[in-house]
Amino acid sequence: MKQRSPETDKLYDTILVLDFGGQYCHLIARRVREHHVYSEIVSSNISPTQIQTLQKQFTIKGIIFSGGPASVYAEGAPTPHPEIFSLNIPILGLCYGHQLIAKLFGGEVKQGKTREYGVAQASIEYFNDLFSGLDREEKVWMSHYDTVITLPPDFKVLARTKNCPIAAFSHRSNPIYGVQWHPEVAHTPHGNQILQNFLFKICKCQANWNPVSLLDSLVTEIKEIVAEKNAIIGLSGGVDSSTATLLASRAIGQNLTAIFVDHGFMRKDEPQFVEKTFKALGVNLFTIHAQDRFFTALQDVSDPEEKRIIIGTEFIKVFEEKAAEIGAEYLIQGTIYPDRIESGFRDGSAKIKSHHNVSGIPPNIKFRAIVEPLRDLYKDEVRALATALGLSNELVCRQPFPGPGLAVRVIGEATPDRIKMLQQADEIVREEIERVPEINRRLWQYFAILTNTQSTGVKGDARAYGWAIAVRIVESREAMTANFARIPYDVLEAISTRITNEIPQITRVVYDITNKPPATIEWE
Ligand code: XMP
Repeated sequence: MKQRSPETDKLYDTILVLDFGGQYCHLIARRVREHHVYSEIVSSNISPTQIQTLQKQFTIKGIIFSGGPASVYAEGAPTPHPEIFSLNIPILGLCYGHQLIAKLFGGEVKQGKTREYGVAQASIEYFNDLFSGLDREEKVWMSHYDTVITLPPDFKVLARTKNCPIAAFSHRSNPIYGVQWHPEVAHTPHGNQILQNFLFKICKCQANWNPVSLLDSLVTEIKEIVAEKNAIIGLSGGVDSSTATLLASRAIGQNLTAIFVDHGFMRKDEPQFVEKTFKALGVNLFTIHAQDRFFTALQDVSDPEEKRIIIGTEFIKVFEEKAAEIGAEYLIQGTIYPDRIESGFRDGSAKIKSHHNVSGIPPNIKFRAIVEPLRDLYKDEVRALATALGLSNELVCRQPFPGPGLAVRVIGEATPDRIKMLQQADEIVREEIERVPEINRRLWQYFAILTNTQSTGVKGDARAYGWAIAVRIVESREAMTANFARIPYDVLEAISTRITNEIPQITRVVYDITNKPPATIEWE
C-alpha cells in the first residue's frame, strides 16, 4: 500500500530492511518504526529496478542489511544485488550485513575460533555521525562467529572490541556503515542512539509516520478493492480481527458480514462477550455454532501442526459456506505482519508454526480475493489503530489468543471434556492475574495449558492420579521474543491452589520458566 502522509500528501520516508535471515530482522524494522519512520522488510537480493518500483509507494531514504545465520564465504550465502551500493542511498550493515559489506568491498572476513555471544565492551575510536552522542566505552551485544579482520583503503575503523579488531567501520566518502554488534536489541543500552543517528543524521528522515495516520488510507483501500460487492470477515474477538472488522465496517458498512465461529475452543464466556460488543458497535455480525463439527474433525488428532491445519481448513469451509449463502466474494482477514513472517512468508526463513489464519487457506480458495488490511503492522501498531477506531480499552488491551484457540493449549487430542477442564483453569489464571493490575499491565499473555502428563496427588485423604496444568505468563513487545514473567509467589500459589481445589481432575500445577527463543509462547 502507498505510504502517503495525509498531512503533507507526500510519501513517507522509509527504511528498507534487507532480510538476510537473521532472527532480529523484525526487531530492526520495529525499532525504526518506533522512531516514526516507516520500515519495510524486503528480500536480501532485491534489485535496483524493484527498489525503483518501491519508490512509487514510499520514499526510500536508507537501507539496513540485517544479520543472518550464514557465513559470508559459505556457498549460496545470501548477498545483495551488486548495484545496490551505486544507488546513493545510505546503507548500514549489522552483524552479517557488516561482514558482507567488508567482503564485497575487498576486505577480509575470517571465521572466529568460537562464537562470541553476549555483552562485550566496544571502544569507540571515531565519533562520526553514526556514533555521535555515544560514550568512548560502550556495552554492546554480540552474536557472531566470523570477524572482519582487514578493510580496504576506502574504509576506516570506527570501533573495536577485545575479540573484534574492526567492530564498526564507515566508508570514507560514501554513506556506507557496518556495525558488528546488534544495536536493535535492548541488551545494547545505546543501540537506539545508533539507529536514531542513522535515521536522522545520515538518512535525513522525517519522523512523521504513525500507524494511526494510515486509518483513512486503509479504509479507502478496502473500499476500492471490495467496491459494491459483499465481503465477510472472521471475527474472533481478538484485537487483530476486531480492528480489521471495524476498518472494513467503516469501509463497506452493511456489505460486510462479520462471522464469529464458535468452534468450541473459546475461553469461558467469550462467545457472549464478542456478540454483545460487536452488535453494540453496529457491526453486521453472524454467529455460527460449529462446536460439533470441529470436535468431530479433531477426533483422534494429537499432532499440533495437524490440529492447526484441520482447524484452519475447517474455518475456511465454514466461511465459504456462509459466503456462498450471502454472495460474499471477498474475505477480509486480520493477519498482521508477524503472522505472515512466522508462517514462513519470508524468503529463506524457517517455518515455525502454521498460524491458522494464513496457511490454513486451501489453494483452491473460492473467494475472488483475500484482503488483509493489517498485513504490514505489528501488534502494538494495531492496538493504536484500534483505539483510534473507538474500540474499548478492554478489547484493545486483551491478550492475544491464537486462532485455533484452546485446541492448541490442550496437548494431545482436544476433546470436549479436556477443553472444559482447560476453560476452568484458564479462567482462574485470568482472574488471579487481573486481580493485580500492576502485574497485569506489563504482561503480554497469561494462560493455562492442559498437559498430557498425569501425576499422583492427594485429594482429601485419598490418592488421586490426575492431570498436570502448566501456567504460561510472559512479557513481550511484539511476540517475536518473550520472557517468562517474574510473578510473585503468592499470586502463583493462589493460582495453583484454586486450580487444584476447583478442578477435581487436576493434581499438579507447574509454572513455565522458558523464554522465547528457545521456546515459543504457545506450547503447540
Ligand atoms: P508463538 O507460540 O508462535 O506465538 O510464540 C506468538 C504469538 O502468536 C499467537 N499465536 C497465534 N495467533 N493464530 C493466531 O492468530 C495462530 O494460529 C497462533 N498461534 C500462536 C500466540 O498466542 C502469541 O501471542
